[in-house]
Amino acid sequence: MIKGFIFDLDGVITDSAEQHYLAWKRLSDEMGWQFDRKINERLRGISRMASLKIITDHNNIQADEDTMQQWATQKNDYYVAALDDVGPDDFLPGAKELLTHIKREGFKVALGSSSKNANKVLQQLKATHFFDAVADGHSVKNSKPAPDIFLHAAKALEVKPNQCLVFEDAKSGIDAAKAGGFYTVGIGPNERVGHADVRFDSMKEATLFEVKSHFKELFS
Ligand code: BG6
Ligand code: MG
Repeated sequence: MIKGFIFDLDGVITDSAEQHYLAWKRLSDEMGWQFDRKINERLRGISRMASLKIITDHNNIQADEDTMQQWATQKNDYYVAALDDVGPDDFLPGAKELLTHIKREGFKVALGSSSKNANKVLQQLKATHFFDAVADGHSVKNSKPAPDIFLHAAKALEVKPNQCLVFEDAKSGIDAAKAGGFYTVGIGPNERVGHADVRFDSMKEATLFEVKSHFKELFS
């Protein structure tokens, strides 16, 4: 029986995946590093430092911990500045509707995001009231594909993993949710989230009616 919904943030609730890309691109251009959308695809759902490591490895760059921190901070400054332009109109189509419907039906709702800026993004969207719990990049040590963030969110909601649906747009996110024993809803193309229990091209198709009809036995 489904009692809770857990949502990833970037690429599910709002399209801040694009702002992450632009911030990494700006840092890379300044540093003379090769970085494009193909490498960016590998950063989806991954923590800030793990993302930087992927980029520096790709460019055969080795740096000490302090320098890595400095670069990560620089990228984050660019990203956070861009968040000032995010507002209540920046929900991905369908996301606000789904949140509204599940709240109305009394389901418990949590955020499960690798981002340390998740609260800021929710505030910009004016979306904090939809969430009973927020698990973010500050909540656990091991980020996706480890299941920790979703287990933390489920615990905060006081529901078991097999009573929750996790919505994710990242391969690492679906891997994390499956590893934790959650039911999974993939948002995006088959090559990225085709291993989810159910997949929709976008949040627009992921209405409560559609979700319930795909997991019929879990809602009856
Ligand atoms: C995830 C994004 O939500 O958060 C990743 O999908 C990002 O691309 C990660 O790297 C960490 O975000 P932040 O805001 O802590 O740098
Ligand atoms: Mg995401």
